[in-house]
Amino acid sequence: MPLTPMRVLLDHAAENGYGVAAFNVNNMEQIQAIMAAAEKLDAPVIIQASRGARSYSQDAYLRHLMLAAVELHPRIPVAMHQDHGNSPETCLSAIAHGYTSCMMDGSLMADGKTPATYEYNVEVTRRVVVEAHKRGVTVEGELGCLGGIEDGHGAGLTGAEALAHLTDPAQAERFVADTGVDALAVAIGTSHGAYKFKQKPTGEVLKMDIIAEIHRRLPRTHLVMHGSSSVPKELIDIINEYGGKMPETYGVPVEEIQEGIRHGVRKINVDTDNRLAMTGAIRKVFATNPGEFDPRAYLTPARAAMQQVCEARMIAFGQAGQASKVPVRSLEEMARTYARG
Ligand code: G3H
Ligand code: 13P
Ligand code: ZN
Repeated sequence: MPLTPMRVLLDHAAENGYGVAAFNVNNMEQIQAIMAAAEKLDAPVIIQASRGARSYSQDAYLRHLMLAAVELHPRIPVAMHQDHGNSPETCLSAIAHGYTSCMMDGSLMADGKTPATYEYNVEVTRRVVVEAHKRGVTVEGELGCLGGIEDGHGAGLTGAEALAHLTDPAQAERFVADTGVDALAVAIGTSHGAYKFKQKPTGEVLKMDIIAEIHRRLPRTHLVMHGSSSVPKELIDIINEYGGKMPETYGVPVEEIQEGIRHGVRKINVDTDNRLAMTGAIRKVFATNPGEFDPRAYLTPARAAMQQVCEARMIAFGQAGQASKVPVRSLEEMARTYARG
């Protein structure tokens, strides 16, 4: 099966009440880890690349790796998504490289740091929707700004400023009407990276009520949670046991994500947990066998460690067992559906 439009996966997830993890990738081993987990569990998958990933791995390598993934796993529906597109040009170049979905993150200006106005966000997002939908490609927008600035994405907002940039449900309703996005990323108190919270987040910190209210107003829009790594203590402990120095830190508990899924969250972005798993596995090889120099000796356990995280999330979010039930729809069919309105 060719790469699947992301909208097809999200529609099926909505009809059947589950969520789909969107895992970030930068290289072959990460794609292999996700596909091995998906094959084992019969799970549909979203694989996403940030702008940094595209420049690290180069578009042509990434495109061919993704084509290898669908060739080797013909029964698994796979959507390829541009994560945090910073401009219509970035989104259009992803589409030209075969991506079946893109995020136009107009919540920030093209520098990926400065909070944008509502009008700017609508203007750039609407432009991407028009072009993407002509080609059957799915579009995710973002309204509100995530906290923090890890990984180069984000305005670095904390405290009252971060609270002021959480997604406003009434504005979300207007944004979806103004832009026609398929999916909407919402800011509810999460941030990218490993250092999200200094203690396990309570309802005061993680605003799940915002998700519930947006879902009430927009029952047909697929909601997206960014910064959704859970930062498991076990993974931090492995890193520290084998020479790492990561301070105590907390992520988004899986139970909170499951609560989000009950209220319309269909795409859950996970990158950091996989980075932690791979780093711990690699550190362990280096610490226990300092003479090792064959990259396969540390990339094999790193890939296996990432596969374990992917499997755990696929089971927790409910996408396991769903791949064979997802309808097959091409980009061309989706383009005709969008054209009919
Ligand atoms: O949005 C953040 C993702 O974790 C991607 O991060 O820009 O370092 O590839 P990156
Ligand atoms: P994490 O850093 O929590 O994995 O979030 C990843 C993300 O939101 C990518 O867009
Ligand atoms: Zn993100």
